[in-house]
Amino acid sequence: MGGNPEQTYAEVVLGRRSIRGYLDKPVPRALIEEVLALAMRAPSSMNTQPYHFHVITGAPLARIRQGNTERILAGYPDSREFRRGEPFAGVHRERQIAVAKQLFGAMGIARDDQEARQDWVLRGFRQFDAPVCIIITYDRALSGSDDTAFDCGAVTTQLVNAAWSKGLGCVINSQGIMQSPVVREHAGIPDDQVIMKAVAMGWPDPDFPANAVVSERRSVAEAARFVGFD
Ligand SMILES: Cc1cc2nc3c(=O)[nH]c(=O)nc-3n(C[C@H](O)[C@H](O)[C@H](O)COP(=O)(O)O)c2cc1C
Repeated sequence: MGGNPEQTYAEVVLGRRSIRGYLDKPVPRALIEEVLALAMRAPSSMNTQPYHFHVITGAPLARIRQGNTERILAGYPDSREFRRGEPFAGVHRERQIAVAKQLFGAMGIARDDQEARQDWVLRGFRQFDAPVCIIITYDRALSGSDDTAFDCGAVTTQLVNAAWSKGLGCVINSQGIMQSPVVREHAGIPDDQVIMKAVAMGWPDPDFPANAVVSERRSVAEAARFVGFD
């Protein structure tokens, strides 16, 4: 799982998957800096690089895990700071259900096992007990432009691939920022930045069943049209 410095680009991209179980082993700061430097070669709109990375571990991360868990159990509503569309429907909902089935299947969580499902959800709010969580934010001055979200996605995708090339696993997640006030307080995020996404990071636990899940993709033929080729 990850870790082979000889991996080609295709091996990194095809091998990477979201990691939701981690070894209890710290990640050196210098390695995270290396990963971030690779990630930041991502293109951005007019090279504006609107993103920031808040790399959190130790006591502040423990406080975020606790705050997230308390608020979720107390029924606090979702407080994401950016625009969200309608709930998924149609093919999008089908794809969401398909990956959930793969993950629950791997973990042996039955459809009607409410307790196990709740544990799984809480795990996400604890950042999957990863040793590191990176909060991605963007400059509030660039709010309202869809380019900003696009640029955050580009750099974050490059981040998880760069991490994988170094043997680290990640899962990009919204669960970690659904209680944004908790994250803002304990990570000390300034008011001129908007909280966008969380990335849990660490050394993949090879024995954690969900880490083996390879999610499905539709084919290139389904996703792409070629115009003017013949
Ligand atoms: C914007 C975004 C938000 C996500 N939020 C969550 C999340 O809250 N919890 C989770 O377990 N996975 C989350 N994921 C991971 C996706 O479920 C995962 O990337 C997708 O199923 C494809 O699987 P793969 O990353 O293993 O290829 C998120 C991914 C993205 C890009």
